[in-house]
Amino acid sequence: MQKFISIQKKIDRFKKKSILIPGDKSLSIRFILLSSLSQGKCTAYNILKSDDVISAIKNVKKLGIKITMKKSKCEVYGKGLYGYKYKKNLILDAGNSGTTARLLCSTLIDAHYPIKIIGDKSLLKRDMKRIIKPLKLFGAKFKDNNGKLPIFIKGTKFTKPINYIENLGSAQCKSAVMIAALKTFGITKIKSLPSRNHTELLFKNVLNVPIKINKKKKYDHIEVKGKNEFRSFDYKIPGDISSAAFFIVLTLLSKNSKLILNNININPTRIGVVKILKMMGAKIKIFNKKKYKGELNGDILIKSTQKLKAINLNSSLNSSAIDEFLLIFLVASRCDGISTFTNLSELNKKESKRLDWGIKILRMMNVKVIKVKNHGIKIWGNKLFPTKKKFVIKNYLKDHRIFMLSAVAALTLGGNWKIYDTDSFKTSFPTFLKTLVNLGAKLNEKNY
Ligand code: S3P
Repeated sequence: MQKFISIQKKIDRFKKKSILIPGDKSLSIRFILLSSLSQGKCTAYNILKSDDVISAIKNVKKLGIKITMKKSKCEVYGKGLYGYKYKKNLILDAGNSGTTARLLCSTLIDAHYPIKIIGDKSLLKRDMKRIIKPLKLFGAKFKDNNGKLPIFIKGTKFTKPINYIENLGSAQCKSAVMIAALKTFGITKIKSLPSRNHTELLFKNVLNVPIKINKKKKYDHIEVKGKNEFRSFDYKIPGDISSAAFFIVLTLLSKNSKLILNNININPTRIGVVKILKMMGAKIKIFNKKKYKGELNGDILIKSTQKLKAINLNSSLNSSAIDEFLLIFLVASRCDGISTFTNLSELNKKESKRLDWGIKILRMMNVKVIKVKNHGIKIWGNKLFPTKKKFVIKNYLKDHRIFMLSAVAALTLGGNWKIYDTDSFKTSFPTFLKTLVNLGAKLNEKNY
């Protein structure tokens, strides 16, 4: 049954000093896909047990790979680069997960039969051209629905290496090319606008795949040498900064609050949100920094901040904060002054049109906000909010980040909120509501 939560009270004093943030979604999905291509048993600790990761697991199992999920670990029995069992009429369902859909396709460029890839109604709206284009160059064949799912992919025995320019700043796109390169003789060369670099770090530090990475002014130049089988591996997945961000902002905007988040991935290509919030005057400290297999992890201390200032953000940090912009907009709405953000066209290509939704929710909260040129927005910060107003948030595409943003807005603003689609947050942060309640939030979950 579908549900909504109602929130009618701001969160007061936090009942806990620290909370647990679940494992990183990008690393969890990459672990499942890459371990399935390794030679032997791989173990992940602290893997994210969310719907998106479960979609990846189910599909890899359909390809003949054994996976066991235990309380504290996930084991994948990889069968090497060419170990997938391709069957006729196979349908793989990526659910809500763009990362699963796009990266999974890249593992199928040698499929013997056409494989159909489907997804939920949000995923059906998302662009797949961005991976179809390079994967075709490798030799795979596609039948698609105008660049959208459902698509059919059929592979080839004769994959050939490619030279590709990735101009969207999309890590999914870059990773799809890199993973396809694993199944291809020769050297694949990618020039990519900077984006999260988990795949590069896994190739280099965990799989020991021959890879060269050269960071130049505009692009990262990456070379991957293919057809090298790699051994099984273990991996401890750190907490997800994109999930942590909801609690960072909750703390910032709640009076006299303080919170510690332990062992969060603070890869420089992911912590745009921390950098931007600090530029706005947020009190955030990262400590206990440690390197683990190329990834930087650490603990984060956040203190509530009364004096936040507006920001005129240039777009260089956009990609490293791409999943956190709704939260950044919320903070901008509570600042002194006018904030501007630009070059955010990719935001409208996520699980829902997040740029449009950000504007819609801020306007509901009586915040002045307009669209500006170059896919940007301008937000007039305003500290005086109505606190008795009624808010109803129904996002028919069930975007998890819209749900969680609304909960943070409700708990820091007050008013009478009804937030629908309580299943949505399970795609990335299944313990979100429980964590809020443990911290002292008063929520009512209702059926409708
Ligand atoms: C992801 C990359 C980002 C991000 C998504 C996860 C990944 O998308 O928004 O949630 O795991 O590679 P882009 O590929 O569009 O940058």
